Amino acid sequence: TNGTAGNIVWHKSSVGKVHRQELLQQKGCVIWITGLSGSGKSSLACALCQTLYSRGKLTYILDGDNVRHGLNRDLTFKSEDRAENIRRIGEVAKLFVDAGVICIASVISPYRRDRDACRALLPEGDFIEVFMDVPIEICEARDPKGLYKLARAGKIKGFTGVDDPYEPPLNCELTCILRWLQLALPPKGNSCASPSDMAETVISYLEEKGYLQ
Ligand code: PPS
Repeated sequence: TNGTAGNIVWHKSSVGKVHRQELLQQKGCVIWITGLSGSGKSSLACALCQTLYSRGKLTYILDGDNVRHGLNRDLTFKSEDRAENIRRIGEVAKLFVDAGVICIASVISPYRRDRDACRALLPEGDFIEVFMDVPIEICEARDPKGLYKLARAGKIKGFTGVDDPYEPPLNCELTCILRWLQLALPPKGNSCASPSDMAETVISYLEEKGYLQ
């Protein structure tokens, strides 16, 4: 007996997640890509989407910038709004996982607590956190949208990494240091990868964990 009048019934479909996954020959999961602006989140998301597509796997990208044009158009970059942005993206990702889709979330998601709340929404193992571990100097040197320049000039307030926090993951599944051809390599001792190399690493992880059948 749900609802105030007691006449709202949960319709359980005879076609469930298991059937959808069987149809798609894959298991739904979220690849959650977190990192600073300009750290290569979207490049990795695109490389992943492309490689998985060529292998007949269904993916869907939830990109922070794009989602903020529609579903999250009412949200700013204040910490409460960033939290709500991430909460909604987490809930949408959960629906994709139930649909059997490999959902790729590409969002700064600067607060650990917000990312962990999304992880908690999903069955164990289905939230795969990938950290774009790129030093801010490199993100800023790339500055693909010219936003760091505006932030340094004080024309954007509360820009992540400049005058707003970014909390790196403590226990993520994968860490990624991208190689940008036009720039110096990150600190020695770190191995670097191109977006497509990194996509292969993520895909090997998915294979190992049984998400690709
Ligand atoms: S968050 O923190 O997860 O809610 O951010 P997200 O939804 O991923 O949106 C990040 C993109 O918004 C642009 N932008 C800003 N980023 C950080 N801080 C501030 N103040 C800001 N204002 C605008 C920026 O283009 C981000 O895109 P990416 O792809 O990360 O560079």
